[in-house]
Amino acid sequence: FHVDTDASEAEKGAYPYYMLKEIDEQPGVMRNLIEHYIAEDGSIKIDEELLKRLNQAQRLYIVAAGTSYHAGLVGKELFERLTNIPTEVHVASEFAYNPPLLAEHPFFIFLTQSGETADSRQVLSQVNEWGYPSLTITNVANSTLSREATYTLLLYAGPEIAVASTKAYTGQIALEAILAKAMGELKNIDKAENFNVAKELTFVANGMQALVDGKSEIKEIAEDVLATTRNAFYIGRSIDYDIAQEAALKLKEVSYVQTEGFASGELKHGTIALIEKDTPVIAIITDEKTAKHTRSNTQEVLARGARVIYIASRQLAVAGDQIILPEVHPLLTPLLAIIPCQLLAYYTSLQRGYDVDKPRNLAKSVTVE
Ligand code: G6P
Repeated sequence: FHVDTDASEAEKGAYPYYMLKEIDEQPGVMRNLIEHYIAEDGSIKIDEELLKRLNQAQRLYIVAAGTSYHAGLVGKELFERLTNIPTEVHVASEFAYNPPLLAEHPFFIFLTQSGETADSRQVLSQVNEWGYPSLTITNVANSTLSREATYTLLLYAGPEIAVASTKAYTGQIALEAILAKAMGELKNIDKAENFNVAKELTFVANGMQALVDGKSEIKEIAEDVLATTRNAFYIGRSIDYDIAQEAALKLKEVSYVQTEGFASGELKHGTIALIEKDTPVIAIITDEKTAKHTRSNTQEVLARGARVIYIASRQLAVAGDQIILPEVHPLLTPLLAIIPCQLLAYYTSLQRGYDVDKPRNLAKSVTVE
């Protein structure tokens, strides 16, 4: 499967909606990234000057909005674990007026599908005034954020037309993984050296394919659990909390179900008051360290009448879990876990009779502050 980047490829073909087409394209997006960034011998084709400058940073600052911000949350895990460089993730519109105290040698990474988001552009202008180095990771060559940053890496994901972002999210995470691997390897960090990113992303692509092939089961769950609900929760801990936040955004933006992506351990400190009989709570369980803790949090909501759906990695699954994810490298589980969540959002929107590609009040690219 190959995703071409020319405009004719943006045809819907046999698909009823772009969102479904773009969900289905994700295995191809993974393979394209491998092809563009990883040589046959496993070496990574990213400018060494960029890698060195990133490695000189005392701290990395990821700045983004919306879905790209959520890809940044996963990026923090990847950069910290594979490069040992402390990493902060910031919402662009917040950073613009309230920047944190910066480390002495900061390096800024902008994540943006379109490369045109005004909130992110505003931060980049400030960063350029300060004179700090920056990298834009984007799907659009020659976009404003690409032209104005010191460096650019492209996603090669093909045009994303549906307003709700899907393949750009997984593309950004995969490219962050490739970049973090290259940086860590240059610093001789064991974890990075032992992380065979091409092989692991190939497993991810195959796993994604299996999940999109099983979409009819997800459709049934959407119809059964989400079709008429007023609200819903996604919960998880650690990397699963990162996924929960993006999963919740997907559901709310296309189906208008009020959805929170919540840290499962924090529910009991107030928010659990919202759980009523039949409130859907979707638990993400891919992180080995926290799996049992999230399961015990699901008991707390079950006791208050919630309907719990479990999305679990195969090696952490137990009898009764509804959605099982193929096993992949622990740092890459968001790439698989998000697929059923995207499909749940898609089918819930259709079930409610909405135009899933053009949700109310939203624009693909927000070029005003
Ligand atoms: C808009 C879109 C979102 C997107 C966000 C950031 O709000 O509706 O889907 O995540 O902008 O866009 P970017 O192009 O910077 O990733």
